[in-house]
Amino acid sequence: MKKIDICLSPDLIHQFDLHESVAVVIDILRASSTITTAIGHGAEAIRLVETVAECKVFKEEGYIAAGERDGKKVRGFDLGNSPYDFINSEIEDKKIALTTTNGTNALMKAKGALQVLTGSFLNYTALLSYIEKLPCDVLLVCAGWKGKVNLEDTLFAGAVVYGLKQLFEYGSDVPLMAVNYYKQAKDNLKLAVEGSSHVQRLMGMGMERDIDYCLKFDEYKVIPILKGLNITKMKLSDMLF
Ligand code: MLT
Repeated sequence: MKKIDICLSPDLIHQFDLHESVAVVIDILRASSTITTAIGHGAEAIRLVETVAECKVFKEEGYIAAGERDGKKVRGFDLGNSPYDFINSEIEDKKIALTTTNGTNALMKAKGALQVLTGSFLNYTALLSYIEKLPCDVLLVCAGWKGKVNLEDTLFAGAVVYGLKQLFEYGSDVPLMAVNYYKQAKDNLKLAVEGSSHVQRLMGMGMERDIDYCLKFDEYKVIPILKGLNITKMKLSDMLF
């Protein structure tokens, strides 16, 4: 029976054999939510970039430079990492270069997988509709915060396990922990995450609307997929079944 497991931090990804699995990278606050929003608003591609300096080179080459460090927009970038930066900008058919504190790193670390997707509450049902039909194992990779486990990514991983019901065997105790947490939290996600360190950090920066937005279900039907270092909208021809 195909298995689902959860990697609670990119620093633990060495414990998993990615080659036979589809990886879903989760950074609810905010990279995977922002990526879903950008692809949902017609961005042509999002190029993952490791450093701020490299991102500025892409800007000189005509890319929209986007991203943050410690949650704050990088000086000299066109956009930060708030989904609202992408909703309120002309990004249709544009190429974006993105670097964030944790999300881009988690995506790069997942690159050995059969496929690398991004997951968020914003594309929850679209993501589940695809995952449930996969013939292979699935690994949910939480971006966390600088190698540490965070609450909101684990919560979303639990929501995915909950939605898949019994279609997958659990690869460890983590899916059981996460799904039990989600079952307790699902009626009020904002209350469930209010003590999270990144929620506190974003609240301290006046970004409560980002938190509210990133906890919304099914704003988009897109599934972002990583090819090389570019994230694009999944096409029918990309599907593994
Ligand atoms: C991350 O990459 O850790 C997050 O996206 C940071 C943020 O945007 O607040």
